[in-house]
Amino acid sequence: MKFSRRGILVGAAATGVGALAVSSIWNTSDAAAEPQPLRIPPLLDARKHGNSVALDVRAGQTEFYSGRASNTLGYNGSYLGPTLRLYRGDDVELAVTNQLREDTTVHWHGLLIPAELDGGPHQRIPPNATWRPVLPVRQAGATLFYHSHAHGQTGAQVYSGLAGLLLIADDQEESLGLPTEYGVDDLPLVLQDRQFENGYMVAPGGMMSRMAGWRGDTIVVNGTPNAVTRVPGQRVRLRLLNGSNARIFNLSFSDRRSFHWIASEGGLLNAPVSLKSISLAPGERAEILVDFSDRKVVALQTAPDTNLPMMMGPLSRIREFGDDLFGSNGERILQFEPFLGEEPSTPLPERLASRPPLNTSRIERRRRFVLGMGGMGGGMMGGMGSTGGMTINGRAFAMDRVDERIELGSTEIWEVSSDMMSHPFHIHGVQFEVMSRNGGKPLERDAGSRDTVVVREPVELLVRFEQPAVEAPFMYHCHILEHEDDGMMGQFATV
Ligand code: C2O
Ligand code: CU
Ligand code: CU
Repeated sequence: MKFSRRGILVGAAATGVGALAVSSIWNTSDAAAEPQPLRIPPLLDARKHGNSVALDVRAGQTEFYSGRASNTLGYNGSYLGPTLRLYRGDDVELAVTNQLREDTTVHWHGLLIPAELDGGPHQRIPPNATWRPVLPVRQAGATLFYHSHAHGQTGAQVYSGLAGLLLIADDQEESLGLPTEYGVDDLPLVLQDRQFENGYMVAPGGMMSRMAGWRGDTIVVNGTPNAVTRVPGQRVRLRLLNGSNARIFNLSFSDRRSFHWIASEGGLLNAPVSLKSISLAPGERAEILVDFSDRKVVALQTAPDTNLPMMMGPLSRIREFGDDLFGSNGERILQFEPFLGEEPSTPLPERLASRPPLNTSRIERRRRFVLGMGGMGGGMMGGMGSTGGMTINGRAFAMDRVDERIELGSTEIWEVSSDMMSHPFHIHGVQFEVMSRNGGKPLERDAGSRDTVVVREPVELLVRFEQPAVEAPFMYHCHILEHEDDGMMGQFATV
């Protein structure tokens, strides 16, 4: 398997003699189904560290199941990383030290900063080196995401654990009185699917899983399988990140309760939106408020994932994006056990952000992007080498080719369409709004300021380019990490 030859050790444990010897014990035990307390990533508040933050990229071992140590990667730990809290207006010095035996990068997904600080494929950190960007934090409060972006290894490194949450704190947002007590009424939830064998995390293999993107049979939250958590019996904020390589979640609660969606990827919506289900594609984040004051035990669940390339047979019927998802057999992600809260529930604000309406009066340019998976011949049967036919506008990614040149400060319409399946399309260094979907109005779920959007039917995005990409280019790509690694990515510079 290509994966283990690269030196990432996921799965190595499962092939050892020890694993074989204990497999029968594992199969007859209930360990796989035992509830586990939700792990909460440590909070690393930049101001408490004088705005100087160290991240070490490490290999380690993680017991997703007790007594079964999987080989994993993490930041300052063995799997995932601390939740970074940065404050709007600050300049934060990062020191990222690569303790791996291969290159990595750390990309600040959603952070609006110049391209040479972005941590994309061009800011490689060789083994034993330290990368020291100073990040100017100037955007509104939001839930962002940091992760490896080492081209060709992004999928494997993120799967192994190189990802974490990055929160922007902002006075304006704080004045709304939303829940902000980290790990108590403000919960970070990194949702990922991973494949396990006998309790050890393994890498999915094979051409088909390369095409569809790596998926797993188990959903972990912050690295916790079968997660359970106690929450105060009041209104609680959940910061949801889909940190999967490929899987789309269609989330709802087991009792079909409604909740309020309050923030998209770029921060607060104008007003809370009452929903009963919400979809989340890889790279997407959403903040929701859930009222637990009835103190009933309830689970966050997801509908089965049907987003597979069309040629993968009858199972691959694609659900319309935004469909109502009830009636399908939900898979449990996280169980909440509310206790009697001491504080009265924070009231639900009527208004959240006040973003000006779309200004479409000065559109400098329109560009079209087609996300392609090759044809039956090209993609599936080889003939295109390792690219597997993953392209944008017919071309696979090349490090030394800048695909688009964009005027700094301009506004453009990007028209993005795709084939075969749904693809989460992400642009670095910008926020955009969805103007239309399939020639009509955007869906409710398309609302807000975003950096990632699901493209199945064509979308039109209104994109403002405010961050310079002069010293290095910015990326745009499919956030199914295997598609990205295999070439469904392009880059732009600003002029
Ligand atoms: Cu979340 Cu280019 O990445
Ligand atoms: Cu990004
Ligand atoms: Cu894709």
